[in-house]
Amino acid sequence: MNRVVLAYSGGLDTSVAIRWLREKYDLEVVTLTADLGGGIDLEEARRRALDIGARDAYVVDGREEFVSDFVMPALQAGALYEDLYPLATALARPLIARIMVGVARRSNASLIAHGCTGKGNDQVRFDVATTALAPDLKVIAPIREWHMSREEEIEYARRHGIEVPVERESPYSTDENLWGRSCECGILEDPSVEPPEDAYAWTCRRQEAPTTPRYLEVDFESGIPVRVDGTAMGALELIEELNRIAGETGVGRIDMIENRLIGLKSREIYEAPAAVVLHAAHRAVEDLTLTKDTLRFNRLVGQTYADLIYNGLWFGALRRDLAAYVSSAQRHVTGTARLKLQQGSCTVVGRTSPASLYDHDLATYGGEDTFDYRAADGFIALWGLPLRVQARRQSLVPSDAE
Ligand code: ARG
Repeated sequence: MNRVVLAYSGGLDTSVAIRWLREKYDLEVVTLTADLGGGIDLEEARRRALDIGARDAYVVDGREEFVSDFVMPALQAGALYEDLYPLATALARPLIARIMVGVARRSNASLIAHGCTGKGNDQVRFDVATTALAPDLKVIAPIREWHMSREEEIEYARRHGIEVPVERESPYSTDENLWGRSCECGILEDPSVEPPEDAYAWTCRRQEAPTTPRYLEVDFESGIPVRVDGTAMGALELIEELNRIAGETGVGRIDMIENRLIGLKSREIYEAPAAVVLHAAHRAVEDLTLTKDTLRFNRLVGQTYADLIYNGLWFGALRRDLAAYVSSAQRHVTGTARLKLQQGSCTVVGRTSPASLYDHDLATYGGEDTFDYRAADGFIALWGLPLRVQARRQSLVPSDAE
């Protein structure tokens, strides 16, 4: 009997898939459940998988690995998809694929299965990441194949004695891990409608957040956040702490129209309090410590990096080579950002760095001014030279002067 490793969340879809893979393809199922900070009960998932008939059920706490190998590189790169989405779901997929490939090797499986539908980005990400790491493994997507409605799935579960998970009856489809939560479907599919309050779970409503501002200091070392308000923390703990602090101030809500890889536009609601704060803080320390040309180049790199993550190309050559550039360019990104969180807004209000390129005595208009004004004269003469020549040789037509 061939073996398949199924990415198992413990929910209805993947529970039904355990049984369906055996019936339909005569496969022995090994499940893998990874905790990336999405509040999954690993022991419960293991028990359920075995009850339903999985041969083996692996559970992995992947939170540290997720933060160090995926989230931190994306933060350092300034990777925000279409300028807004911090990529929580997209970053988790290549890690889950990597863990599944490991399980497949250990258990001699020749197939990988996941519970993605046929309309989203995640099917592409799982498949392409698996292909990159293990081109010999075949990938199947039961939900894409079986065309069962939710009612039919529940009926299938009853028929096969599969306990139907008590999923909180929700009009939305959600996904979450420590870097953020996403919410789609239901009324959110109308992009003209303001998201109802029940679409949010991590952040409080702006009007209910405290009116007194919460000031916050985040220290970075080489582009990695290491302290909050002076207290040293590992990156995982730091993210959890900021999700809580910023969420209480209503910071971290994102409402966007997103261009999916498969060509659709979709309306997405995200909550990512820590990611919103950390991207703003990181950018503030970069502003102080990087030169103008590096900063500009980093914006291009950040955008490309975000597209690569979003499009499932984490294990591709370009993403890896950009990562080498990013870690080199981050070597001086050390310093502190001071932020003001208040009723849904997150503003940088101060920044300091031992490696700061800001020179007060050069910038000041006050008495300590050391700027050499004579240099400005010659510089402007040369800077304007091509225009002076042009003005002499090619008389301006009226439209040029507009
Ligand atoms: N649109 C996001 C992405 O492609 C999130 C999708 C998460 N899935 C969900 N059911 N909410 O990364």
